[in-house]
Amino acid sequence: MVVTGTGTGVGKTVVTAALAAAAAAQGHTVAVLKPAQTGVCADEPGDVAEVVRLTRGTAHGVELARFPDPLAPATAARRAGLPPVGPEQAAHAARELARTHDLVLVEGAGGLLVHLDDRGGTVADVAGLLGAPVLVVAAAGLGTLNATALTAEALRARGLECAGVVVGSLPESPGLAERCNLTDLPTVCGAPLRGVLPQGAAEMEDFSGRAPGWLAPQLYGSWHAPYAPRAAYDEPVSAGGVRPA
Ligand SMILES: Nc1ncnc2c1ncn2[C@@H]1O[C@H](COP(=O)(O)OP(=O)(O)OP(=O)(O)O)[C@@H](O)[C@H]1O
Ligand SMILES: [Mg+2]
Repeated sequence: MVVTGTGTGVGKTVVTAALAAAAAAQGHTVAVLKPAQTGVCADEPGDVAEVVRLTRGTAHGVELARFPDPLAPATAARRAGLPPVGPEQAAHAARELARTHDLVLVEGAGGLLVHLDDRGGTVADVAGLLGAPVLVVAAAGLGTLNATALTAEALRARGLECAGVVVGSLPESPGLAERCNLTDLPTVCGAPLRGVLPQGAAEMEDFSGRAPGWLAPQLYGSWHAPYAPRAAYDEPVSAGGVRPA
């Protein structure tokens, strides 16, 4: 499965770790592949190290290349004077890991159409080469509906399977937009909501134990959308535009 997001910093790594922990808790062997890690120096922990930390080592992590500039992989590789990691190389590595693991999670860099190499290869091409479903990690707040719908539409245009949408970080007290988005995301994106991670998940002591509670059964979890149907949010507002208490 390929894990992408609507952009950088939306929680792909945290969701990947949760998915890895949930699958491992069901007895599956899991590998996490980061084809190209940008924005960290050689001696700094990258996304793979974060997944291994959060899963307490139950997931096997592999990083193929590292380019220090915090940029798209193709640009960062060019600036470092290093060969980029193209979709074929990433897909090959994923296939190799799949020989010895039940589940292989491939975390892209940034969003779906970020260039991995100077030929315009993307993580969407990796999914296409693998025939793998793509999980979309989305932000919770205002603006997420459009970004997530665009990503889902790009997947459909390429004939790729969308494994659903997971919200990477929901505040403890979600505001109006965050609450409404949880019900609107599946409608607007044409893809099911398959999980919600709480804000602060990455700092939680028992991350692995709690992870299945954040993900739907299709993602090895036990989460079911507890949100009221859309009608609950459509109650009339008062004349002043403020919902009655
Ligand atoms: N649910 C969450 N709980 C705690 N921290 C979170 C959560 N989601 C995201 N973060 C924090 O937000 C930042 C970005 O999250 P993350 O690294 O998972 O994003 P990403 O989509 O993987 O980004 P990148 O494109 O750089 O790989 C991190 O510092 C992470 O700790
Ligand atoms: Mg990441």
